[in-house]
Amino acid sequence: MTQRDFIQRLPKAELHLHIEGTFEPELMFEIGRRNNVKSRFATVEALKEAYNFHNLQSFLDIYYEGAGVLLHERDFYDLTMAYLERCHEDNVVHTEIFFDPQTHTDRGVSFATVYNGIRRALDEGKAKWGITSHMIMCFLRHLSEEAAEKTLTEALPFKNGIIAVGLDSSEVGHPPKKFKNVFERARKEGFLTVAHAGEEGPPEYVWEALDLLKVKRIDHGVRALEDDKLMARLVKERMPFTVCPLSNIKLRVFDKMEDHNLKKLLAQGACVTINSDDPAYFGGYMGANFNETARGLNLSESELRQIAKNSFEASFMTPFEKIRWMNLCDQA
Ligand code: ADE
Ligand code: ZN
Repeated sequence: MTQRDFIQRLPKAELHLHIEGTFEPELMFEIGRRNNVKSRFATVEALKEAYNFHNLQSFLDIYYEGAGVLLHERDFYDLTMAYLERCHEDNVVHTEIFFDPQTHTDRGVSFATVYNGIRRALDEGKAKWGITSHMIMCFLRHLSEEAAEKTLTEALPFKNGIIAVGLDSSEVGHPPKKFKNVFERARKEGFLTVAHAGEEGPPEYVWEALDLLKVKRIDHGVRALEDDKLMARLVKERMPFTVCPLSNIKLRVFDKMEDHNLKKLLAQGACVTINSDDPAYFGGYMGANFNETARGLNLSESELRQIAKNSFEASFMTPFEKIRWMNLCDQA
């Protein structure tokens, strides 16, 4: 069996995926035409040429622009269905997707439109392919804590369908401590918490995410390796890292896959997972992320199996489901 076949056979959970980041150019043009929203790019090819990022912000500017054509419930449904089809192809059996309500509500699209479109697709994905899922609502950290508070209030009628809140967008200059109060209220309302930290930002932001936001997972977290005391704590607590290797290369966190620190994190005993982040922009979905990382870092079957098992351990599934999937990873 080739390594590619082995990766395909492994059941996998995806824990770091922005649904707006699955927006393929072809679908973006189709929905743009349907909604009469003009793009500043004349063709799919011209748009793809703009996918040349030098850091997180240069990507985010294009990503928010692309999301601007999403207006109706059907648009969010189509976007999510297209992603679930990729999950099915890559043997991703469970996914916990981020959505950014503020990207849409700030344009006049209602919270319910966004939520209902994604939810309908997730329910259909479960019925059609057996893919289980959770939704995680992210606050945009370049906006104020007050704006996040407003979004949390808007989410309350939907809280049974949203398992956690997260924190994304421009990291440097917007530390987790800026959102301490809104995360505290979210926890009181019953939401779990996660946060992007240590992608471009310093290890200090990872400490804050742990101590102030009380997160259950660190999204990215690759810069934690610069701080031995922090690493010791993360390993001891088996705090999951949702690492996104192709994203990190595209956004120049590392120059090339061979330089990525995922294998070092794993060797230190960290609960490392592999995820696709914004696959339409970064060159591939889960299969591609696993294959490219395995190639670049020369990962063994046992390391790949461990990473897949970690994805279930780190998920928000029930303990029974976690064990069931981890056992199935052992049999792959
Ligand atoms: N939003 C979408 N992708 C992101 C990333 N990699 N980091 C921060 N915010 C994001
Ligand atoms: Zn992300």
